[in-house]
Amino acid sequence: MHGASWSNASSGSVPRSVSSNQWLFVLLCIALLIGSAGCRKDEQNVPTTGTRMPYLPATGYSYALPVMPAHFSAQLQQTAASTMAGNPITDAGATLGRVLFYERGLSASRTISCGSCHHQEQGFSDASVRSTGHTGLRTRRNSMHLVNQFYSRRQFWDLRATTLEAQVLMPIQDAVEMGLTLDEATERLRALPYYPALFTEAFGDDSITTDRMALALAQFVRSIVSYRTRYDEGEANGFVDFTPLEVDGKNLFYNGATRCNQCHMTANFNNQDARNTGLDMEYTDNGRGEATGNSGDQGKFKIPSLRNVALTAPYMHDGRFNTLEEVVEHYNSGVQQHPNLDDRLTVDGTIGGEPLQMDLSANDKQALVAFLRTLTDEPLIADPRFSDPFQQ
Ligand code: HEC
Ligand code: HEC
Repeated sequence: MHGASWSNASSGSVPRSVSSNQWLFVLLCIALLIGSAGCRKDEQNVPTTGTRMPYLPATGYSYALPVMPAHFSAQLQQTAASTMAGNPITDAGATLGRVLFYERGLSASRTISCGSCHHQEQGFSDASVRSTGHTGLRTRRNSMHLVNQFYSRRQFWDLRATTLEAQVLMPIQDAVEMGLTLDEATERLRALPYYPALFTEAFGDDSITTDRMALALAQFVRSIVSYRTRYDEGEANGFVDFTPLEVDGKNLFYNGATRCNQCHMTANFNNQDARNTGLDMEYTDNGRGEATGNSGDQGKFKIPSLRNVALTAPYMHDGRFNTLEEVVEHYNSGVQQHPNLDDRLTVDGTIGGEPLQMDLSANDKQALVAFLRTLTDEPLIADPRFSDPFQQ
């Protein structure tokens, strides 16, 4: 019985290679077996020929949010409370959200799920400059990583989504990404055998609606919380485990010469605004400016959190930089003149002023990169609660 739960009920379209997730699952099963809880499919998961079935643990995972360490400020916690208002995370809701997140049936061609462009091992981002959508066409922008979304009031590079509940429905309807209407999407779910039970667990009855789909997806995405990086350990223990280079990098990140932390603020290294970082003198994609129509917003993009940034290459809204070294060199010597260039990146501290040259030494640049590498959350990347349940 236990072996059967690892075998695949699908038609063979699932990759044969053994991913780290699969090993994790196997390890998890062994752990569960030792705990004699067993490792079997959810009772509702009676395999249907040709249908990919999600494999869920017999005892559901807990998605309760962690108590964030003290260096996550009270202000951040207020932001989180307000972005989550009205949609508290429940274990059953996030479990449904997990299955939906990895549901390829939510794309017109049944080939693409949210997870196709947001890979756990890449900090829920994508290694492609532009990601492949359901017909093989490429997205316009670089896929964003997903972490600590409860600290973000708006989503997308241009901040066009104003809640996560609204955001999660947009990729489904996007012509390039998944290409379904919302009615088609809920129809797809109704035709799959495992959803009635999952919706009932989450919402009390088996009615499958757009609203419930959005609530569950948002709960799952919000439950992807990063707070266990080496940087976080350092905040708790005075950075005793940091190398001298990492300490240098941390000091540089927070000093007035680089101004990194004046945009990548707080323990989440983000900010609610969009800013122009002087990537180009003229942008082909004007980001926030396209969303608002204001010339003063041209070339402005969301300030992304830097958590897991070592895993989320390529970088920037268009994926133009392949390495963190290239990103740091941009800030050091590559900032271009632009009427909206942020005042933190100009010599005289005025918007649109002459671009700042930071004149960082080779050691400074290495140090900044070393510090950015301390922001990787290994436990999150390995956490089975966020893995693809169809891939066991
Ligand atoms: C084909 C690739 C693709 C698919 C499929 C996809 N995304 Fe994305 N995702 C992207 C890209 C590209 C962006 C940035 C788009 C932009 O800014 O215009 C993005 C942005 C996001 C953001 C914004 C993050 C932030 O910090 O603002 C969230 C949240 C998100 N996606 C969640 C999802 C969910 C949930 C699904 C499934 C319902 C999904 N994505 C499906 C490529 C994809
Ligand atoms: C003026 C505000 C501002 C300052 C100062 C700033 N950043 Fe950024 N950072 C941004 C914005 C905005 C983006 C996204 C830009 C885009 O895609 O067009 C970004 C993107 C990045 C990225 C890529 C993240 C990703 O997921 O693609 C890294 C890494 C980064 N910054 C590191 C730094 C470092 C290191 C410093 C200091 C040397 C710094 N930033 C200073 C605003 C800023």
